[in-house]
Amino acid sequence: MQHEIDRLAREAGRMILNADSSALSGVEVVTKSSRRDLVTSMDLEIQQMLMKELLAIIPQAKFLCEEDVPSMPDAVITDAGELDEGICFIIDPIDGTANFVHGNRHSCTSIAMTVNGETQIGVIYDPYRDELFSARKGHGCALNGQLLPAFDSSMKNEITVFGTAPYNDFVNGPTFELAEKLYEASADVRRTGSAALDCCWTACGRFALYAELSLSAWDFAAGKLIAEETGCVVTTTDGKPISFKEKPSILCGRPTAVSEFLEIDF
Ligand code: IPD
Ligand code: CA
Ligand code: CA
Repeated sequence: MQHEIDRLAREAGRMILNADSSALSGVEVVTKSSRRDLVTSMDLEIQQMLMKELLAIIPQAKFLCEEDVPSMPDAVITDAGELDEGICFIIDPIDGTANFVHGNRHSCTSIAMTVNGETQIGVIYDPYRDELFSARKGHGCALNGQLLPAFDSSMKNEITVFGTAPYNDFVNGPTFELAEKLYEASADVRRTGSAALDCCWTACGRFALYAELSLSAWDFAAGKLIAEETGCVVTTTDGKPISFKEKPSILCGRPTAVSEFLEIDF
Protein backbone atom coordinates (compact mmCIF):
# COMPACT_ATOMS: atom_id res chain seq x y z
CA MET A 1 0.00 0.00 0.00
CA GLN A 2 2.89 2.36 0.80
CA HIS A 3 4.07 2.20 -2.85
CA GLU A 4 0.57 3.01 -4.09
CA ILE A 5 0.39 6.03 -1.79
CA ASP A 6 3.90 7.14 -2.89
CA ARG A 7 2.75 6.94 -6.51
CA LEU A 8 -0.41 8.96 -5.88
CA ALA A 9 1.48 11.62 -3.91
CA ARG A 10 3.82 12.02 -6.90
CA GLU A 11 0.80 12.27 -9.20
CA ALA A 12 -0.60 15.06 -6.98
CA GLY A 13 2.79 16.79 -7.23
CA ARG A 14 2.63 16.66 -11.02
CA MET A 15 -0.74 18.44 -10.85
CA ILE A 16 0.75 21.16 -8.59
CA LEU A 17 3.69 21.71 -10.97
CA ASN A 18 1.46 21.77 -14.06
CA ALA A 19 -0.73 24.44 -12.48
CA ASP A 20 2.39 26.41 -11.55
CA SER A 21 3.94 26.25 -14.97
CA SER A 22 0.78 27.70 -16.46
CA ALA A 23 1.23 30.65 -14.01
CA LEU A 24 -1.88 29.43 -12.19
CA SER A 25 -4.05 30.45 -15.15
CA GLY A 26 -7.35 28.64 -14.84
CA VAL A 27 -6.83 28.00 -11.11
CA GLU A 28 -9.63 29.64 -9.12
CA VAL A 29 -8.85 31.01 -5.64
CA VAL A 30 -11.53 31.66 -3.01
CA THR A 31 -11.43 32.37 0.73
CA LYS A 32 -12.93 30.04 3.39
CA SER A 33 -13.06 30.90 7.11
CA SER A 34 -11.07 34.16 6.82
CA ARG A 35 -9.10 36.32 4.37
CA ARG A 36 -6.03 34.18 5.17
CA ASP A 37 -7.77 30.84 4.59
CA LEU A 38 -7.58 30.12 0.85
CA VAL A 39 -8.71 27.22 -1.30
CA THR A 40 -8.00 26.81 -5.00
CA SER A 41 -9.64 24.65 -7.63
CA MET A 42 -6.36 22.68 -7.64
CA ASP A 43 -6.79 21.71 -3.93
CA LEU A 44 -10.22 20.31 -4.85
CA GLU A 45 -9.04 18.54 -8.02
CA ILE A 46 -6.15 16.87 -6.22
CA GLN A 47 -8.31 15.76 -3.30
CA GLN A 48 -10.89 14.31 -5.68
CA MET A 49 -8.22 12.44 -7.67
CA LEU A 50 -6.69 10.97 -4.49
CA MET A 51 -10.04 9.88 -3.06
CA LYS A 52 -11.09 8.25 -6.33
CA GLU A 53 -7.81 6.35 -6.75
CA LEU A 54 -7.61 5.26 -3.10
CA LEU A 55 -11.24 4.08 -3.11
CA ALA A 56 -10.47 1.99 -6.18
CA ILE A 57 -7.79 0.21 -4.11
CA ILE A 58 -9.66 0.06 -0.75
CA PRO A 59 -13.42 0.49 -1.42
CA GLN A 60 -14.34 0.50 2.29
CA ALA A 61 -11.86 3.28 3.18
CA LYS A 62 -13.01 6.46 4.93
CA PHE A 63 -11.53 9.93 4.40
CA LEU A 64 -10.79 12.83 6.69
CA CYS A 65 -9.71 15.61 4.32
CA GLU A 66 -9.26 19.36 4.41
CA GLU A 67 -11.58 20.29 1.57
CA ASP A 68 -15.32 19.73 1.04
CA VAL A 69 -15.83 17.84 -2.20
CA PRO A 70 -19.38 17.29 -3.39
CA SER A 71 -18.94 13.72 -4.69
CA MET A 72 -18.27 10.59 -2.62
CA PRO A 73 -20.01 11.88 0.56
CA ASP A 74 -20.42 8.36 2.02
CA ALA A 75 -16.67 7.91 2.30
CA VAL A 76 -16.11 11.27 4.00
CA ILE A 77 -15.98 11.58 7.77
CA THR A 78 -16.05 14.90 9.60
CA ASP A 79 -15.72 13.56 13.13
CA ALA A 80 -12.23 12.30 13.99
CA GLY A 81 -13.93 9.93 16.48
CA GLU A 82 -14.89 7.81 13.45
CA LEU A 83 -11.19 7.15 12.82
CA ASP A 84 -11.15 4.61 15.62
CA GLU A 85 -12.35 1.78 13.42
CA GLY A 86 -11.20 0.54 10.02
CA ILE A 87 -8.99 2.19 7.43
CA CYS A 88 -8.98 5.96 6.99
CA PHE A 89 -6.96 8.28 4.82
CA ILE A 90 -6.18 11.72 6.26
CA ILE A 91 -5.37 14.01 3.34
CA ASP A 92 -4.17 17.54 2.79
CA PRO A 93 -4.19 17.90 -1.02
CA ILE A 94 -2.01 21.03 -0.91
CA ASP A 95 -0.33 21.95 2.36
CA GLY A 96 1.02 25.44 1.86
CA THR A 97 -1.88 26.76 -0.22
CA ALA A 98 -0.93 30.41 0.43
CA ASN A 99 2.60 29.65 -0.88
CA PHE A 100 1.04 27.97 -3.93
CA VAL A 101 -1.22 30.96 -4.64
CA HIS A 102 1.64 33.48 -4.28
CA GLY A 103 4.22 31.48 -6.25
CA ASN A 104 6.43 30.75 -3.23
CA ARG A 105 7.18 27.19 -4.42
CA HIS A 106 7.06 25.55 -0.99
CA SER A 107 4.00 23.31 -0.82
CA CYS A 108 3.32 19.59 -0.74
CA THR A 109 0.71 16.85 -0.65
CA SER A 110 0.25 14.96 2.61
CA ILE A 111 -1.40 11.54 2.93
CA ALA A 112 -1.66 9.43 6.10
CA MET A 113 -3.30 6.02 6.39
CA THR A 114 -4.71 5.06 9.78
CA VAL A 115 -5.87 1.60 10.82
CA ASN A 116 -8.19 1.52 13.84
CA GLY A 117 -7.10 5.06 14.72
CA GLU A 118 -3.33 4.49 14.52
CA THR A 119 -1.25 5.98 11.73
CA GLN A 120 0.51 3.18 9.84
CA ILE A 121 1.71 5.03 6.73
CA GLY A 122 2.67 8.68 6.20
CA VAL A 123 3.70 10.10 2.81
CA ILE A 124 4.52 13.72 1.97
CA TYR A 125 5.69 14.84 -1.47
CA ASP A 126 7.31 18.21 -2.26
CA PRO A 127 7.13 18.52 -6.05
CA TYR A 128 9.35 21.61 -6.21
CA ARG A 129 12.37 19.75 -4.78
CA ASP A 130 11.19 16.34 -5.99
CA GLU A 131 11.42 15.08 -2.39
CA LEU A 132 9.26 12.17 -1.30
CA PHE A 133 9.17 11.41 2.43
CA SER A 134 7.60 8.01 3.01
CA ALA A 135 7.24 6.32 6.41
CA ARG A 136 5.72 3.07 7.67
CA LYS A 137 5.21 2.55 11.38
CA GLY A 138 8.12 0.57 12.82
CA HIS A 139 10.02 0.58 9.51
CA GLY A 140 11.57 4.07 9.48
CA CYS A 141 11.20 6.88 6.98
CA ALA A 142 12.85 7.15 3.57
CA LEU A 143 13.60 10.33 1.66
CA ASN A 144 13.55 9.43 -2.05
CA GLY A 145 14.19 5.81 -1.12
CA GLN A 146 17.09 6.45 1.31
CA LEU A 147 16.39 5.57 4.93
CA LEU A 148 16.80 8.63 7.17
CA PRO A 149 18.99 8.16 10.26
CA ALA A 150 17.67 8.65 13.80
CA PHE A 151 19.85 11.02 15.86
CA ASP A 152 19.64 13.48 18.72
CA SER A 153 20.49 17.18 18.90
CA SER A 154 20.17 20.27 21.06
CA MET A 155 18.50 23.30 19.44
CA LYS A 156 21.25 25.65 20.64
CA ASN A 157 23.25 25.74 17.41
CA GLU A 158 20.47 24.62 15.07
CA ILE A 159 17.65 26.31 13.17
CA THR A 160 14.13 26.01 14.58
CA VAL A 161 10.81 26.73 12.85
CA PHE A 162 7.41 27.92 13.98
CA GLY A 163 4.00 28.17 12.33
CA THR A 164 1.62 31.09 12.76
CA ALA A 165 -1.63 29.02 12.94
CA PRO A 166 -3.02 31.65 10.53
CA TYR A 167 -6.68 30.59 10.77
CA ASN A 168 -6.73 30.94 14.57
CA ASP A 169 -6.19 34.60 15.41
CA PHE A 170 -6.70 33.92 19.14
CA VAL A 171 -3.16 32.44 19.27
CA ASN A 172 -1.38 35.40 17.61
CA GLY A 173 0.10 36.81 20.83
CA PRO A 174 1.35 33.47 22.22
CA THR A 175 2.66 32.48 18.75
CA PHE A 176 5.00 35.44 18.48
CA GLU A 177 6.05 35.02 22.11
CA LEU A 178 6.91 31.41 21.24
CA ALA A 179 8.86 32.60 18.17
CA GLU A 180 10.90 34.98 20.30
CA LYS A 181 11.69 32.22 22.83
CA LEU A 182 12.73 29.88 20.01
CA TYR A 183 14.95 32.61 18.55
CA GLU A 184 16.65 33.09 21.91
CA ALA A 185 17.12 29.34 22.45
CA SER A 186 18.38 28.38 18.97
CA ALA A 187 20.64 29.67 16.17
CA ASP A 188 17.72 31.31 14.27
CA VAL A 189 14.05 30.80 13.39
CA ARG A 190 12.09 30.26 10.17
CA ARG A 191 8.39 30.44 9.12
CA THR A 192 7.88 28.40 5.92
CA GLY A 193 4.09 28.18 5.34
CA SER A 194 3.80 24.38 5.25
CA ALA A 195 3.30 22.47 8.50
CA ALA A 196 3.73 19.11 6.75
CA LEU A 197 7.11 20.13 5.31
CA ASP A 198 8.13 21.61 8.67
CA CYS A 199 7.71 18.09 10.12
CA CYS A 200 9.65 16.56 7.19
CA TRP A 201 12.48 19.08 7.40
CA THR A 202 12.73 18.36 11.13
CA ALA A 203 12.72 14.63 10.35
CA CYS A 204 15.70 14.98 8.00
CA GLY A 205 17.64 17.35 10.29
CA ARG A 206 17.27 20.72 8.50
CA PHE A 207 15.45 21.98 11.63
CA ALA A 208 16.04 20.77 15.20
CA LEU A 209 12.50 21.59 16.29
CA TYR A 210 9.11 22.77 14.96
CA ALA A 211 6.27 24.26 17.01
CA GLU A 212 2.80 25.65 16.14
CA LEU A 213 -0.13 26.39 18.45
CA SER A 214 -3.11 24.99 16.52
CA LEU A 215 -3.28 22.51 13.64
CA SER A 216 -5.87 20.24 12.02
CA ALA A 217 -5.40 16.48 11.65
CA TRP A 218 -4.57 16.75 7.91
CA ASP A 219 -1.73 19.23 8.62
CA PHE A 220 0.21 16.84 10.88
CA ALA A 221 -1.04 13.23 10.49
CA ALA A 222 1.60 12.09 7.97
CA GLY A 223 4.31 14.46 9.25
CA LYS A 224 4.02 13.17 12.80
CA LEU A 225 4.72 9.57 11.73
CA ILE A 226 7.54 10.69 9.40
CA ALA A 227 9.21 12.60 12.23
CA GLU A 228 8.68 9.84 14.81
CA GLU A 229 10.16 7.25 12.47
CA THR A 230 13.40 9.28 12.41
CA GLY A 231 13.60 9.37 16.22
CA CYS A 232 11.85 12.70 16.78
CA VAL A 233 9.50 13.27 19.70
CA VAL A 234 6.09 14.68 18.72
CA THR A 235 3.72 16.03 21.41
CA THR A 236 1.62 19.10 22.11
CA THR A 237 3.63 22.19 23.10
CA ASP A 238 3.05 21.28 26.75
CA GLY A 239 4.40 17.78 26.26
CA LYS A 240 1.10 15.86 26.11
CA PRO A 241 0.13 13.15 23.58
CA ILE A 242 -1.44 14.47 20.36
CA SER A 243 -4.99 13.49 19.41
CA PHE A 244 -6.77 13.81 16.06
CA LYS A 245 -9.95 14.68 17.95
CA GLU A 246 -9.02 18.26 18.74
CA LYS A 247 -7.06 21.01 16.99
CA PRO A 248 -3.88 20.45 18.99
CA SER A 249 -0.70 22.42 19.24
CA ILE A 250 2.35 20.58 17.96
CA LEU A 251 5.91 20.26 19.15
CA CYS A 252 8.10 18.11 16.91
CA GLY A 253 11.82 17.74 17.36
CA ARG A 254 14.93 15.90 18.39
CA PRO A 255 14.58 14.48 21.94
CA THR A 256 17.08 16.92 23.52
CA ALA A 257 15.63 19.91 21.63
CA VAL A 258 12.13 18.98 22.83
CA SER A 259 13.33 18.70 26.45
CA GLU A 260 14.98 22.13 26.14
CA PHE A 261 11.75 23.60 24.74
CA LEU A 262 9.67 22.13 27.57
CA GLU A 263 11.96 23.81 30.11
CA ILE A 264 11.37 27.30 28.64
CA ASP A 265 9.23 29.50 30.87
CA PHE A 266 6.21 30.83 28.91
C1 IPD B 1 -1.46 25.58 6.66
C2 IPD B 1 0.04 25.49 6.54
C3 IPD B 1 0.71 26.52 7.43
C4 IPD B 1 0.28 26.36 8.86
C5 IPD B 1 -1.21 26.35 8.99
C6 IPD B 1 -1.84 25.32 8.08
P1 IPD B 1 -2.80 24.97 4.42
O1 IPD B 1 -2.08 24.63 5.85
O2 IPD B 1 0.48 24.21 6.91
O3 IPD B 1 2.12 26.39 7.44
O4 IPD B 1 0.81 27.43 9.60
O5 IPD B 1 -1.52 26.12 10.35
O6 IPD B 1 -3.22 25.35 8.22
O7 IPD B 1 -3.98 25.82 4.70
O8 IPD B 1 -1.79 25.63 3.58
O9 IPD B 1 -3.18 23.61 3.94
CA1 CA C 1 -2.60 22.23 5.73
CA1 CA D 1 -4.43 22.51 2.48
